[in-house]
Amino acid sequence: MRYVDRQELERRLGEIRAAAERGFADVADLKAFEEMRVNIFGKRSELTAILKSLGALSQAERPAAGQLINGLREELERLAADAKTALSERLLKKQLYDERIDVTMPGKAPAYGHKHPITRVLDDLKNIFIGMGYEIAEGPEVETDYYNFEALNIPANHPAKDEQDTFYTEGGFVLRTQTSPVQVRTLEKGELPIRIIAPGRVYRSDEVDATHSPVFHQVEGLVVDRGVTMGDLKGSLQVFAEELFGKGTRVRFRPHHFPFTEPSAEMDASCFACGGTGCHVCKDSGWIEMLGCGMVHPKVLRMSGVDPDIYSGFAFGMGVERIAMQRYGITDMRLLYENDVKFLRQF
Ligand code: DAH
Repeated sequence: MRYVDRQELERRLGEIRAAAERGFADVADLKAFEEMRVNIFGKRSELTAILKSLGALSQAERPAAGQLINGLREELERLAADAKTALSERLLKKQLYDERIDVTMPGKAPAYGHKHPITRVLDDLKNIFIGMGYEIAEGPEVETDYYNFEALNIPANHPAKDEQDTFYTEGGFVLRTQTSPVQVRTLEKGELPIRIIAPGRVYRSDEVDATHSPVFHQVEGLVVDRGVTMGDLKGSLQVFAEELFGKGTRVRFRPHHFPFTEPSAEMDASCFACGGTGCHVCKDSGWIEMLGCGMVHPKVLRMSGVDPDIYSGFAFGMGVERIAMQRYGITDMRLLYENDVKFLRQF
């Protein structure tokens, strides 16, 4: 192609300039910009083609045409540089806008969970007894008949052994109906003296209602040493009641019967809500039923290899749900297991 005609050359250069101005004005991103650059200045660009064709001009014509072309080239270089600056600014602005943070917006408060009321009571009970020098002992929830009943001096015809009351597995095991089998497992180890509590789940074949659940929690206690007396039992449980319900809490013991203790008793504590004058928490009696207890039956000690002529001990067992319900004023046990966050959030 030859641009012998100056007018024709100017016209072509004008077209190139116009196209470049248009192109740079609405280039959208860096990739498009680079493509644009190659189109205008690259080896296959029209500008390069025009430059190459200068060789065909006469010596006289060449300088003027060269000047025109180089002038445009410099102009286009500036245009490209300006377009690139403008593009970068535009992109930065857009990025800043897209990633903007409104620091005046209210923050998202993290949702903290908290302990279930039963866990809280269990933790409190554990802490009280640990503070009194007790250790935590554990035993299996699937037990043998021997540990759950026989070794605790519970006779074969005892109603607790009835299928109506106890879950039996196919292999002849039972889901423990009480935490008392941990007493036996601890005694069998023969490491005396013993001062343990055994918190844990127990199972009974009960219908679900406001005060019953087939799965619930107990805390068992066992103290065995030389010369342990009923006085130790009463003193220890008095201290426990005051730790749980506050200084000045009184306790009373009512005679009762458990196969694995002799004598046996139930202990009540003066009501923590009214102090003993009577209120809705204690159903106007002034007392709250707390636990079963007694002196470990000599037969139980002997069956587990502890000599009752040398050692004696006391034991106690309490229901955790009942304590939680009284403490938090919960009147229906089912609420403790339904996992309704609206209910649980209150505690
Ligand atoms: N195991 C008894 C129950 O489930 C509670 C109990 C009573 C435990 C007296 C004891 C005790 O250790 O001495 O009803």
